[in-house]
Amino acid sequence: MNADIVLRNVRLPSGREADIAISDGVVRHVGAPVHADETIDCSGYTCLPGAVDMHVHMRGGVQAGKEGWRTGTASAVAGGVTVVVDQPNTVPPITTPEILAARIREAESEALCGFAVNAGVVAGADLAGMWSAGAMAFGETFAAPSSYGEGLDPETLRELFCRIQALGGLATVHAEEVSGTAPRTLADHDSARSGAGEARAVQAVQALAPAGMRLHFCHLSTAASVRAARGTVEATPHHLFLSHEMFDEDETHARVNPPLRDERTRRDLWSCWDMIDVVASDHAPHTLQEKALPFDTAPSGIPGVETMVPLLMAAVHRGEITLSSVIEKTSWRPAEILGIPRAGFEPGDRADFALYPDEVVRIDPSALHSKCGWSPFEGFGAIFPEVVIIRGTQAYAHGEYGEACPIWYPGKGFSSLNNK
Ligand code: DOR
Repeated sequence: MNADIVLRNVRLPSGREADIAISDGVVRHVGAPVHADETIDCSGYTCLPGAVDMHVHMRGGVQAGKEGWRTGTASAVAGGVTVVVDQPNTVPPITTPEILAARIREAESEALCGFAVNAGVVAGADLAGMWSAGAMAFGETFAAPSSYGEGLDPETLRELFCRIQALGGLATVHAEEVSGTAPRTLADHDSARSGAGEARAVQAVQALAPAGMRLHFCHLSTAASVRAARGTVEATPHHLFLSHEMFDEDETHARVNPPLRDERTRRDLWSCWDMIDVVASDHAPHTLQEKALPFDTAPSGIPGVETMVPLLMAAVHRGEITLSSVIEKTSWRPAEILGIPRAGFEPGDRADFALYPDEVVRIDPSALHSKCGWSPFEGFGAIFPEVVIIRGTQAYAHGEYGEACPIWYPGKGFSSLNNK
């Protein structure tokens, strides 16, 4: 057999060493050596399947000052993420098949990695049209207001959920309860969008959804919310690794929705690690100028697509979590939830991989690739990939980008229409 590319001496997560032969973007053989024109020696690295970050805000368009598909996906790739799922709270929001198609074209011309685009869930949105046009999932659906998202009232939410279920789609939900006036500190922000309120919002959303509906809860920030959820559960690196106690009380760079919690609540979230289906970054870049505004007017959001897997790999290195749990939550489970072919080590798997050295470094925001130019994880231990392969193509190696691989992953509504 001939392969397009062979990854030689790959240390698989099981500890076994093997060669991985790839052709047409798919793993064909794992085991003994096979001939190929191009080979990569993977000795000394841990090879992980490429991560699917199912919650990113790539911005672009009128928000290009914050981020765009080129810089956002450069950041993703340098962090071992080979597929990103873009959220629809763009300006304007994604509410029609035409806006969705334009967003996909923008990504196809700029993205460096695989991508999917979700449909916006607001009253009057053409959900069926966007589903047939290839939306991956619905939402994040704002059950509470957040940056560039109006909170939906319960009746509207109920009606939209019924329509999503009729299409056979997945609703991804931003569940929070918001009270009080504009917060002036991180602790105020935590109280105004409390952990208890988040858990109540999760329950309220579930009560509105028709029986048997598939729900995915975005960025749950407390153990109580995770336990309350009867759908798939997503958690972010910022709620796992950061508490508001780590920052000055009015530090806008740590302002995010849901808010960072106190240290005890953060640690408690880790106690639910096994119940968390997916770790996703909620990469939500804002400019340094915007974050220089007073706390009560600064926008909420934290960049994190590039640091997500590296932070988790450092936690593996410290012996806090297993490598297999990182693979499950960053690659296999999100792919399964979304219906994207899985990246991995079996013949037929998508050939997306990232090679990680054993060396922990400290996060230096100036070395990251997001346009926003800052990170709340400065100084945290991380292991960054040195080589990233997308569909068998070397997309990134030792700080240099190779060929762009902007592969679009449409949702099931598109596939079923086009496979008839
Ligand atoms: O903090 C947040 N920022 N939470 C969200 O839900 C949206 C995001 C953004 O788009 O900036």
